Amino acid sequence: MHITECTWSEFQNLQMSEKVACLAREDGSPFHTLFSQQFNRTFLDQICKLATEIRTIAKSRTGMDFLQSLLSHKRAMLYFSQPSSRTFLSFLSACQILGIKTGEVRETATSSEFKGESHEDSIRTFSSYFDLIIMRTQEKGLAEHMAWMLSNSERPVPIINAGSGKDQHPTQALLDIYTLLRSFERRGGLRDRSVMFVGDLSRGRTVRSLSNLLLNYENIEQVFVAPEPLQISKDILDALDAKGVKWTASSDMYRFLPAVDAIYMTRIQDEWDAHKGDSACIDTSTYKIGIEQMRACKPDAILMHPLPRRDEIAVDVDHDPRAMYWRQMRNGMWMRVALIASTFDCAARIDAFYRENI
Ligand code: CP
Repeated sequence: MHITECTWSEFQNLQMSEKVACLAREDGSPFHTLFSQQFNRTFLDQICKLATEIRTIAKSRTGMDFLQSLLSHKRAMLYFSQPSSRTFLSFLSACQILGIKTGEVRETATSSEFKGESHEDSIRTFSSYFDLIIMRTQEKGLAEHMAWMLSNSERPVPIINAGSGKDQHPTQALLDIYTLLRSFERRGGLRDRSVMFVGDLSRGRTVRSLSNLLLNYENIEQVFVAPEPLQISKDILDALDAKGVKWTASSDMYRFLPAVDAIYMTRIQDEWDAHKGDSACIDTSTYKIGIEQMRACKPDAILMHPLPRRDEIAVDVDHDPRAMYWRQMRNGMWMRVALIASTFDCAARIDAFYRENI
């Protein structure tokens, strides 16, 4: 079944694996990018290779001119109704690198949603003017709904989910995997590793999406460290159990610090508190990394963070060669160029240019 062959109610009620099958294109690359479960190992290998080719091509003016010619006939809408720095700016830069012209709404008070227009009508409006919609929203499942709606309209333009509610951040997971792969590529690769997630795991969509994506790699143990009220939710652990992946949930970061290969810190996401100040009542003092904690880590461990951070990583850790979060952020731009290029079927042209010129 394809997404155009089901009602919204039917699509919404499918199992994730069935939704993924409904969204698949023949070559395995996504048209709409909605969930991290859409990315299989073949696609991940291809998109990471493409991101590396693009970052290499972009080093020269000739290469940059080539990239900017690829999609100069396209326009993209950046619809970010939730705050963002990195995701918004890296997608904007990615569009610029590919020659795509952009429009944006970053605050619904400035769009006709303020006058009561529905999400459906707003997105249909964007699809009338643009060839791609990149959207970040507060609401879980909205990108999915809008993708279904556009697929069943006269203007089925692709949607990229740039973060939806507490649930999914698939493009962050792509850049996180790319960062892990690059970090370990000269050290045996991303297999037989342990990744420790720390912080607000119950409301961290980046953790949920990356945990799913790690299922594509061999023997990756996942460790979830959080105070009990912020611990990872059962659906993620069920997904790990279904694949036979080893995991541990704990409130003791210090127990695992010396053993893990990658530490993925997250901030406390108090914007989701049911009542203002709820998070402040939770003791998070032992979920922070400073110079002393880095001393306890493996000499070749890496430290990641999707950012923004608050005080969970001390600023003086930034100079530690194991701190990857600034590189991770820049990797996001190259990965988003690769994803947009792949969405518009430019991968083969980029690969050919790379082989001929680099
Ligand atoms: N990592 C991330 O999504 O950052 P922004 O909220 O700044 O986009």
